[in-house]
Amino acid sequence: MIKAEKQLDLSSINKSLKIKNNFSIENLATLYNGDCLDFLKTIPDKSIQLVVTSPPYNVGKAYEKKLRLEQYIAEQRKVIDECVRVLKDEGSICWEVGNYVDNGEIIPLDILLYDAFRQNDLQLRNRIIWHFRHGLHCSKRFSGRYETILWFTKTDNYTFNLDAIRVPQKYPGKKYFKGSKVGEYSCNPNGKNPSDVWDIPNVKSNHVEKTVHPCQFPIALVQRLILSLSNENDIVFDPFLGVGSTAVAAIINNRNAVGSELLKEYYDIACERVTLAHKGLLKIRPDAPVYEPIGNLSITKNPFLLNNEVIHENY
Ligand SMILES: C[S@@+](CC[C@H](N)C(=O)[O-])C[C@H]1O[C@@H](n2cnc3c(N)ncnc32)[C@H](O)[C@@H]1O
Repeated sequence: MIKAEKQLDLSSINKSLKIKNNFSIENLATLYNGDCLDFLKTIPDKSIQLVVTSPPYNVGKAYEKKLRLEQYIAEQRKVIDECVRVLKDEGSICWEVGNYVDNGEIIPLDILLYDAFRQNDLQLRNRIIWHFRHGLHCSKRFSGRYETILWFTKTDNYTFNLDAIRVPQKYPGKKYFKGSKVGEYSCNPNGKNPSDVWDIPNVKSNHVEKTVHPCQFPIALVQRLILSLSNENDIVFDPFLGVGSTAVAAIINNRNAVGSELLKEYYDIACERVTLAHKGLLKIRPDAPVYEPIGNLSITKNPFLLNNEVIHENY
């Protein structure tokens, strides 16, 4: 688990932050207000370690023009091709998407976009399920409570820092009780692999990170990708930056942030959040376990919970 104190410990950043508009590998933060394809043209080949993004889903949000599905995929392909061009050989691309919904029919965008990456010879390392607990309540199908992140690498020689993103073991003190390792810990005391299913709250009204943007990344989500798939001082790029969640996560983890956002309203908020984050003043929800409700009673008040045992009959 990533501790809150670590997220806010900015003492190792001694460079002052001046947000630049034009790309240079030297910049700590380059945020461009405009179309991502125009911006991508200015980025040299093989200069980015990690691309993390959540593109428009073509569902008619205020910031997007709803296109025919084929046209939407064709537009996405152009951006994907360019992202592959600017990616370093040891780099990764993480494309986070949900569903396109057409007259009540669900069309999973990751399945439609998969070919665009494969045709660029990228390899899929994980299809991460991001599970969250809040959203619309559907009446004619099950309510949607996950989106997916396609994690692709450019080569087999890719960066993956598992130790940076371990989460607590379920039974951290468990030891071998027989055999040659008797008495030794049977699991890694530094925590376990977080798996490919991530339960991280989405940014809805009460979330401390909420801005006016309707679909922000939680910082904790993008931070896991940044810590595991890049190293300090690497460049992290988000072509569809929104209000800058990827850039914030990059800056607080000593990476260089690069992004492009079409709408001035979101771009300005992104610049403000990145500046605050660099000063250690942005409120961020730590990557901590999600609250588990037990019937109508909170965990601390539930008289049925003795010694932290969960009694399942109660809900
Ligand atoms: C799903 S949102 C991303 C939100 C972002 N992950 C965050 O945490 O704020 C997609 C964003 O892409 C922007 N956008 C759409 N088309 C774009 C383009 N061609 N170039 C740059 N940004 C674009 C939209 O304005 C929107 O803010």
